[in-house]
Amino acid sequence: MASNRGLRRAYTIWATIYDPLTRFLRGSRRRSIGLLDLRPRDTVLIAGCGTGADFEFLPRETECVAVDLTPAMLRRAEAKIEDRRIRLEEMDAMDLGFPDNTFDKAILHFILAVVPDPARTLLEAERVTKPGGLLVVLDKFWNRPRRPPLFLRVANAICGGYVTAVDRNFHAILARTSLEILQEIPMGFGGLYFLYLLRKPLSPSR
Ligand SMILES: C[S@@+](CC[C@H](N)C(=O)[O-])C[C@H]1O[C@@H](n2cnc3c(N)ncnc32)[C@H](O)[C@@H]1O
Repeated sequence: MASNRGLRRAYTIWATIYDPLTRFLRGSRRRSIGLLDLRPRDTVLIAGCGTGADFEFLPRETECVAVDLTPAMLRRAEAKIEDRRIRLEEMDAMDLGFPDNTFDKAILHFILAVVPDPARTLLEAERVTKPGGLLVVLDKFWNRPRRPPLFLRVANAICGGYVTAVDRNFHAILARTSLEILQEIPMGFGGLYFLYLLRKPLSPSR
């Protein structure tokens, strides 16, 4: 089972090789952030920003707060800020230190399959997003009704606590929130990768 302590330790090591290993995801990042239709005055949260691989797709005028648990990842993110309006915070995405309804939009890339409690993480992102605000989620999910195949269960047993889970069902996570799906886009990789555009309702439904 993943824990913040174990993940911080693991991602301190991953930080050294994360960027070259994940460069192939640039197109997916661009597409996901494009769905947010960011405007100059928008305020954006990036939950679990890692090494800042998303930063290059943010318009220069967008006000962004990017949080992550792992100082080694944040140090790499700092080097990518350049002249963008991005503030970094070492923070647990499951327990965000921001008031309700702070951000216009939120980005959750490859974080829900990592954190110990993905529903709590998505609920926190919902809480700090303004009513009517948009969120994007890009990650690996096992969304089929049947159990994952053996190789995925083995991969999950090995990697689940320290790298990423591969057996989480997005719809089960989403069901704990009030968020609405505007778009669900399969992104390939054997049917594991999905991109979601979500909206926080204008009035609370629960
Ligand atoms: C797979 S990386 C994804 C990083 C980035 N979002 C990206 O798209 O490249 C997962 C990141 O989540 C961070 N993380 C893990 N648990 C976290 C938590 N509870 N709160 C905030 N960040 C967390 C790790 O430090 C790591 O940087």
